[in-house]
Amino acid sequence: MTRTILPSASNSIPNSSYSQADWQGGYRSLTGEYQYWIDEIQGEIPADLQGTLFRNGPGLLDVNGQRLAHPFDGDGMISAIVFDQGRAYFHNRFVQTEGYEAEQAAGQLLYRGVFGTQKPGGWLKNCFDVKLKNIANTNVIYWGGKLLALWEAAEPHRLDPLTLQTLGLETLDGLLKPGEAFSAHPRIDPGWNSDRQPRLVNFGLKAGLSSTITIHEFDPDLRVLHQRRHTVPGFAFLHDFVITPNYCIFFQNPVRFNPLPFVLGWRGAAQCIDFQPQEPTRILVIPRHGSGAVQIFETEACFVFHHANAFERVGQLVIDSICYEFFPQADPAHDYLNIDFNAYPAGQLCRFTVDLASGGVQRQVLDTRSCEFPTLHPTQVGQAYRYVYLATAHDAHGNAPLQAIAKFDLETGDRQIWSAAPRGFVSEPIFVPRRVRPASSTANPGDLSISDAEAEEGWLLTLVYNAALQRSQLVILAAENLAQGPVATLSLRHHIPYGLHGSFCPEIFGPVA
Ligand code: CO
Repeated sequence: MTRTILPSASNSIPNSSYSQADWQGGYRSLTGEYQYWIDEIQGEIPADLQGTLFRNGPGLLDVNGQRLAHPFDGDGMISAIVFDQGRAYFHNRFVQTEGYEAEQAAGQLLYRGVFGTQKPGGWLKNCFDVKLKNIANTNVIYWGGKLLALWEAAEPHRLDPLTLQTLGLETLDGLLKPGEAFSAHPRIDPGWNSDRQPRLVNFGLKAGLSSTITIHEFDPDLRVLHQRRHTVPGFAFLHDFVITPNYCIFFQNPVRFNPLPFVLGWRGAAQCIDFQPQEPTRILVIPRHGSGAVQIFETEACFVFHHANAFERVGQLVIDSICYEFFPQADPAHDYLNIDFNAYPAGQLCRFTVDLASGGVQRQVLDTRSCEFPTLHPTQVGQAYRYVYLATAHDAHGNAPLQAIAKFDLETGDRQIWSAAPRGFVSEPIFVPRRVRPASSTANPGDLSISDAEAEEGWLLTLVYNAALQRSQLVILAAENLAQGPVATLSLRHHIPYGLHGSFCPEIFGPVA
C-alpha cells in the first residue's frame, strides 16, 4: 500500500509543476564570495543542530561571458553553512585551482571541458588538446582534519575549513601520483569492520580497453590502511560505488568510448560515451579484505550514476540504486538550458538482488517517481535499512527538475514528500542524525545497530533555489515528519547555482573573527 502525503498547497498545482524559465534561473554564475550571519529566517533553527554543512558545485557557468557547454564543466565553489546554538553563518569561496586562477587572470576560457566546453576559435583551436582542468567541483568532505574538494578524474584540493582558502593539491601522504584519479564519492563505513573504527573508503579509476580500479581504505586520521588495485575487462564509467562490511560494489554501465571526436576537437570526452542497450550492465563485486577475486554479475542494460546503499544477506547482496533505462548521447549543438526533460529517461529507485551462488540478478523498481541524490542515516551504510531520502520531481510521473524531498519506507512502501514546487528547485538532501552514538558506548562494543525510530531521527538539509526571490534558501526538514514542511527556511542574500554533492560534520568551522 503506497501512501503519498502532499502539503495541501502543492496539490493545487496544475499540469506542469514548474516553468523552464524559473528552472534556468538557477544556472547563473555566482561571481561573488560572501560571508555573513543569515538573518532572514522563517521558523527556528533547531538548537541541537550543531556543525558545518559543506556544499560543492559549479559556481561559474561562464568565463567572462564565454558560456560553458555544460554545468559539470563549471569551476568548483564551496559553500559552508555553520550552525551554532540556533544561529547560522554563511560563507562561500571558489576553489583556487590552477585552471580557475589562469582563466580568471586571462579573462577567457583556456581549457576544454570534459562535458563539451571548447576553447573559442573552433575545432582547430581544440584538436589534439587533451589536457583537462581539475575543476574540483563535485563533492567536499571533512575527514582526518582535512577539508577536501573532490573531482573524480584527478587528485583532491585541500582547503582550510575555517576560511575555505585553497591550500593546494592533496596527495594523501604521497599515495596519489600527480593527476591520479580519486573519486568524488567516498563512502564512510561507520565501524562495521574488525577494528570497529569508522573508515573512509574510496576508489580511483583508470579507464581504457580494460579498466583499473584502485580501492583505498583510510582510518579516522586519513592514514591509509590499505590500497588494492583490480583490473576489470572493458571500458568502465564509474561515478559512484557502495560498500558492505565485506565488499565494494560497482555498476559498470554498458557504454563504449570512442576518443576520436574528443581528440579531434569536435566533442568533449563525456560526449564520446555511447550507451549500448544490447549489452548487459555488469555488477562488479570486489572483496574488501584478503585477496579474493573480482566477481562479475550481469543484469539487463541500464545506467546508474548514484547508489543509495547495499547490504549482505545470506547468499545474497542487495543494492539500491538510481537507475536510468538508457543514457542519451549528448548533442554538442544542444543548449542544456533548453533541455526537454520529457525527452530524457527519469532516474528511478531500483533494488538489485544478487544471488551469489547462481549468479542471478533480480531487479525491482521500488518507485517510478523521477529521483536522484539518495541518502540515509550514516550508521546504516552497508546494513539492512528502512528509510531512504531522495530529491525527487514534484509529479509522480515523467521526468522533470528536482523540486521535492522524499522519504521512502522500504519496508511498507509508504512515502512522504515535501515539495518546493512550483517555484522552488531542490538539491541533494543531507541527513544529519540528531544523536550520534559512538560504537564504544553501546552495550555490545562494535554493535552499531539502531532502531527504526533512531533511523528517522534527524534533520534533512537541502539548498533550494527559489525562483520567486531569485535567491537560494537552506531548508531544514525533520526526517520523522517530512510532510509537515520545513522546521526552518534560511534565506541567503544571493543564489547558489545548482550544486552537486556535499557533507555535514559536527565541527563548528567559523565564523572567522
Ligand atoms: Co555524484
